[in-house]
Amino acid sequence: MKYIKLLLFSGFLFFCLKSQSQNEKASSIHPGEIWKDTDGVHINAHGGGVLYTKGIYYWFGEHKGETNDARVGVTCYSSKDLYNWKNEGIALPVSNDPNSEITSGCIIERPKVIYNSKTKKYVMWFHLELKGQSYKASRTAVAVSKNPAGPYTFIKSYRPNAGKWPIGFKEEWKKSMAGEGTLKWWTPEWRKSVEEGLFVRRDFTAGQMSRDMQIFVDDDGKAYHIHSSEENLTLHLSELTDDYLDFKGKYITIAPAGHNEAPAIYKQDGIYYMITSGCTGWDPNAARSFKASSIWGPWEKLGNPCRGEGVETTFESQSTYILPVAGKKNAFIFMADRWRPKNPRDGRYVWLPLKMENGHPVLYWKEQWTLNDL
Ligand code: DGJ
Repeated sequence: MKYIKLLLFSGFLFFCLKSQSQNEKASSIHPGEIWKDTDGVHINAHGGGVLYTKGIYYWFGEHKGETNDARVGVTCYSSKDLYNWKNEGIALPVSNDPNSEITSGCIIERPKVIYNSKTKKYVMWFHLELKGQSYKASRTAVAVSKNPAGPYTFIKSYRPNAGKWPIGFKEEWKKSMAGEGTLKWWTPEWRKSVEEGLFVRRDFTAGQMSRDMQIFVDDDGKAYHIHSSEENLTLHLSELTDDYLDFKGKYITIAPAGHNEAPAIYKQDGIYYMITSGCTGWDPNAARSFKASSIWGPWEKLGNPCRGEGVETTFESQSTYILPVAGKKNAFIFMADRWRPKNPRDGRYVWLPLKMENGHPVLYWKEQWTLNDL
């Protein structure tokens, strides 16, 4: 009798453990909900991007605690199926050296990693703000590693394109215009002066501001850095050097004075598409979209890609990356953040299928979905 009871009890235990582990293995995406890693902990990879290499996806993002500043560094998670993510640890740790540009307490945002097949190195770019300066420094930063999950070695941070004019910048715009410093920001004259390079001129010598950023690698292996510049008024798109570790000095401005943040780019059937947000701090706003048949523009405005309820707030989120799904033609995932500034670590991930309708990228809200929905 005792033996039978023991047998029944162990059978019951086995059943419980089995069903628990089955529950823990995810087989769909639930935008905006707690997303547990394979250890059962909410994923901490905000403002992230994904690298696909050798059959594995690596999701890099900002580690967030109770405050927005960086106390840990850039996190990395890996996955083979895009549903279940294993914590790979800290790919780029902040430094304990108070003199380091990435000292604990700096701000690290929107890390993106790409692979350079010539140097066989993984290159990480991110937005860096120096400790104690809020968002004043406006730098981009680069780090490198031999392994996808790191550790990454920090190289440098700076404002890019110092001493370079953007492509198409007119000769007459290169000199300051009389009275431009006194123009009021709400006037059409001020807007015109921004469109005619007010801030590009101001920052020409020291380098252009670089805040929210994205990296895009084209089919020919050329890589591009896209960032909010000119006091977040205008996007800059610049070509990186062949080793991806620096700026080549060739860049354009996109949507001057258009106030775009959070740029995310993808290419479908030879056309480049970009989704951005407006600038409202941590609060969500309506997304925008653009397209271009050359990466160098012109970039045509397409309007808000969201459809249905939630269009005014991008379903309470802000773009961070557009992920091409490996092995599936024209299958893209829109990745966005639902920020929680009062408790940043509780920020959520809004991943949605990115579709195309009449030549426009479109996004519909989904409570739950699988890769079969792409
Ligand atoms: C919006 C940006 O997209 C975020 O990355 C972050 O910089 C916040 N602004 C800061 O307010």
